[in-house]
Parts: sequence; structure tokens; C-alpha cells
Amino acid sequence: MAIISKDIFKAADILNHEGVVAIPTETVYGLAGNIYSKKAINKIFEIKQRPLFNPLIVHIKSLEQLDELAKDIPAKARLLANTFFPGSLTLVLKKQSSVPDLVTGGNDTVAIRMPNHATTLALLEQINFPLAAPSANPFGCISPTSAWHVESYFKNKIPMVLDGGNCKNGIESTIIGFKNDEAFLYRLGSVTIEEIEHVIGEIHIKNKKENNPEAPGMMSRHYAPSTKIFLVSDVAQFIKAYPEKKIGLLLFSKKNNLDGVNHQEVVSNKRDLKEAASNLYAAMYRLDKMNLDFIVAERFPDSGLGKAINDRLERACYVNPSTLNENVE
Ligand code: TXA
Ligand code: MG
Repeated sequence: MAIISKDIFKAADILNHEGVVAIPTETVYGLAGNIYSKKAINKIFEIKQRPLFNPLIVHIKSLEQLDELAKDIPAKARLLANTFFPGSLTLVLKKQSSVPDLVTGGNDTVAIRMPNHATTLALLEQINFPLAAPSANPFGCISPTSAWHVESYFKNKIPMVLDGGNCKNGIESTIIGFKNDEAFLYRLGSVTIEEIEHVIGEIHIKNKKENNPEAPGMMSRHYAPSTKIFLVSDVAQFIKAYPEKKIGLLLFSKKNNLDGVNHQEVVSNKRDLKEAASNLYAAMYRLDKMNLDFIVAERFPDSGLGKAINDRLERACYVNPSTLNENVE
């Protein structure tokens, strides 16, 4: 069993000795190690069973650290960092030669963010290196939004989960990269496209169905529960065809015409997208543990955070939604 504790000094001690610690952030928990320790970074890849070519996000405590790690920072990136750091935005920038290739998967860019979580910022103050941290889930599984989720995934494979409570935002950071000083969205996330465009004007949206994704978070099947999941607009209509099946529902808000279905997770009764995002993964995680025949998720409104939520649900689908006839299996 990993120790679940709020002790940042203990976490710092493990990290100073090239160990790994799961850390809380406002998005999801991360599995963290010293970016300059080969041993720690290799452990992260091994524990997560993550392919080595899939690079890690580097977590920093200050804007000074941004310049230690990245070079030729475009003006738009600077503006975004000044506006959203600390926060749920990751910038992919040209890396300084001091950043180890192991962290960046051999790329000449490095992904950087400053998490907006008091516990982890306090931890970063105790150590003199940035932390590489992918989400603290085995490769391809639902990202963890509580210390307990992380513990259930990794048990004694890691020494400690630094407990920072439930993740407030609940969906991974938004990732933005640059080409010729133009901004490209690599991954939808907790900061909305609207919020970003408000600061730097229109950005380019990468097609997430590309075969050779620049951010593997763009791979089609990802963030998936092991139970089959369908994403549909009309849940009541869809489940009518399966009266014999044990079905779990993942709903934005409560629906009266579904009273008979036993397993329902409602993520925001007041239809607040922020609250829904914050509850989403924990709800998927609970449904996944219920031995259901399948899960039916309701499609969210396609704006603001609803876009990022739909993106995660689409990736979790067993059948690609664009090829799914909602009434036929
Ligand atoms: O909210 C988050 O971003 C969380 C917390 C822990 O910070 N982290 C997270 O990390 O989601 P991870 O490893 O699960 O997803 C990071 C994504 C991956 O899809 C990776 O391929 C991409 O970022 N990425 C990392 N470095 C990159 C780079 N240099 N160029 C392009 N994509 C990169
Ligand atoms: Mg991840």
C-alpha cells in the first residue's frame, strides 16, 4: 500500500532521493519525479506502463523556471503564461538543452505547466528541480481525481500519494503548441478555447483523429473505462432497446423519464459544466466498478467545458461515435 499523506516534507525527501510520488493538482493527480533524475523518470514510465516516446509534462513553480527550461518563447505563449499560470494550461515550447531527452520523448520541445494547487506549489518550494508528471493512472485508464483513485491503481508500486483532496477541475490541462508563432490546440482541457482566444485571438484546432498525433492525448481511444461505453444524445431512447441489460447511466443532470434505471451518476444537477467536469472521472470510475453490461453517457452541450467533456467521453467510447448508429448495436 502507498502511504496517503499530506506531508510535503516526506514527499520532498522521497523526490530528493530519486523516488516518485503521486501529487495532487487542480486537474488530475500526477505521478511525479525529478526531471533531472534518469532513475525517477524511468520509474514513472515503468509504473505507468507508458511507451517511452510519449513525453511528460514538466511542472514548475515560477515564471523564472519557464525560462530555464524553454527558449525562443513566442509572444503569445508569454501572454498565455502570464494570464493562466498557475492554472490548467500546458504550453509546448522549444526546449533548452538542459532538459533531458527522456522527459520529452526525444522531441526538441518541452511541455510545461504551473499547477494551481497549494499543496503541490508548497512541495515545489521545498525542492530545487521541476517535476515531470503524467496523470497518475496506468496507460489508457481513467485519470485519477482523488488520492484514493491513485492508491487503487498503484498500491505498493509507489511509496506515497500526497493527499490534496479531490481535484477541483477534474479534467486534464489544455495543451497549446506553436508553429511560426501561431498557437495550436493539441488537447482540449480545463481551460476553454473561448478563454484562450479571449487573450490571444483565434487559435488553430488540430484534428484529433490524425493518425500520427503530436500529442498522444489526441489518440482516439484513451481515458477509457474497461466497461463498454456509448455516447448518445437521447439516453432514454437508446436504452429502450435493451430492457434485459444491466446498464449504467452517466448523466449531466437528473432526468425524470429514467427513474427505473438503477445505476445513475448525475454529474451536475444544476447543469454547471465546471461542476460536471470536476465529477466526471469519479463517476466513470464508480460505474466501471459495477459489473455493468455497458454504460450510456449523455452527450454534453458542445461549447466551453462541454467540448472537453465530450472529447473525453468520445475517447472512452468502445465504438467510435461517428460510426455508431445510436439505435442499433
Ligand atoms: O492536467 C494535466 O496535464 C495532468 C496533470 C498531472 O498535470 N497531466 C497529464 O499528463 O495529463 P499526461 O502525461 O497524462 O498527458 C500529457 C500529454 C500527453 O498526451 C503527451 O503526449 C503530451 O502531453 N505532451 C507532453 N510533452 C509534449 C511535447 N513536447 N509535445 C507534444 N505533446 C506533448
Ligand atoms: Mg494521461
